[in-house]
Amino acid sequence: MKPVKVGICGLGTVGGGTFNVLQRNAAEIVRRAGRDIEVAQIATRRLNPACSLGDTEVVDDVFVLVNNPEIDIIVELIGGSDVAREVVLQAIANGKHVVTANKALIAVHGNEIFEAAREKGVMVAFEASVAGGIPIIKALREGLAANRIDWVAGIINGTGNFILTEMRDKGRTFADVLAEAQALGYAEADPTFDVEGIDAAHKLTIIASIAFGIPLQFDKAYTEGITQLTTADVNYAEEFGYRIKHLGIARRTESGVELRVHPTLIPADRLLANVKGVMNAVMVNGDAVGSTLYYGAGAGAEPTASAVVADIIDVVRTLTTDPNNRVPHLAFQADSLSDFPVLPVGDVNTAYYLRLHAKDRPGVLAKVASILSERGINIESIIQKEAEEQDGLVPIILMTHRVREQSMNEAIAALEALDDIAAPLMRIRVEQLN
Ligand code: HSE
Repeated sequence: MKPVKVGICGLGTVGGGTFNVLQRNAAEIVRRAGRDIEVAQIATRRLNPACSLGDTEVVDDVFVLVNNPEIDIIVELIGGSDVAREVVLQAIANGKHVVTANKALIAVHGNEIFEAAREKGVMVAFEASVAGGIPIIKALREGLAANRIDWVAGIINGTGNFILTEMRDKGRTFADVLAEAQALGYAEADPTFDVEGIDAAHKLTIIASIAFGIPLQFDKAYTEGITQLTTADVNYAEEFGYRIKHLGIARRTESGVELRVHPTLIPADRLLANVKGVMNAVMVNGDAVGSTLYYGAGAGAEPTASAVVADIIDVVRTLTTDPNNRVPHLAFQADSLSDFPVLPVGDVNTAYYLRLHAKDRPGVLAKVASILSERGINIESIIQKEAEEQDGLVPIILMTHRVREQSMNEAIAALEALDDIAAPLMRIRVEQLN
């Protein structure tokens, strides 16, 4: 049988890893796919020193590949949304299957892309777009297909987790660790996507659609980064038996879906709390299976290539199948997606960690307690530290029970308005994950 011809668009970290894995494991891959897979052309403006391309043809224009009638599968690894969207839509229009690692593209333009792909009867595979080498899309879409998924919580940005881990374990500065993550090829082209939670929100948007059968709605995801976290918060969290992780959380509630990325205190003995460095982990809770956990490298050349190449193999295996009987892109049949709403963050329910700095006077704690109790916020525990030398203010750290975010926002505004409290105070959401 003729080999299946693949065109790789982009030969950066992931493109280079994909080429190398396809070459190195060619014999194993053909045994799995049932056909030879040949890289017919590569589009790149810069050669990757990690790749020995031999006589593989290299061009600098991605559209040469997209319009090459010989190519069956376009592997889009250029990143970004604009050119990548054009590449993918043009490839689909030309009847080609697409494999992509591009989470921004799928989170923002996925609904349009999947509709175009359905009309043409081609596949768009995107396992590498979420959590690098962890096959979480396949697990959710196929392995857990029997379940009603109740929630998903994950560490889905390797750069952010690497930064938090190094800051906590080695006392390194934020900027120093970020520079290392960039040098190692983990960080996005614009690293604010990593540290402000945008990259994680792209991935969470994709996870939530597949978990709950809703259209992709990146614009409704709540996103908060890790740049405001201090070593003091990391240490206070430890005193309460918690660790701070940058989590993406998607939860089904009676009134809608929570879709949020933010720093989160989780109990230090949870498996997720012990995921370190660039590793990712995603916890999925289904009604039949209970809690399951998926762990692995969330970024880097070959871990991400592992997911890209698995998708290529999947596409090759299904080339001759009836397009109507393939696994749907978003796990649920396209005409069965639900209009269940994504909740505004004010409607989310969580517990909270609050750190405030107060004047050391009688009655301050009573005022704090009364502002919280007036809004139905129940304090679970509280510690007061020694006054800090420079300003004479005493740090007070509170943990609360679960409350609607809107009530907490009102309480925080009232606390910050007190003369005795220095604004702004620090608020971090708390999840038990049980
Ligand atoms: N910048 C991403 C991360 C790469 O650090 O997780 C993988 O999506």
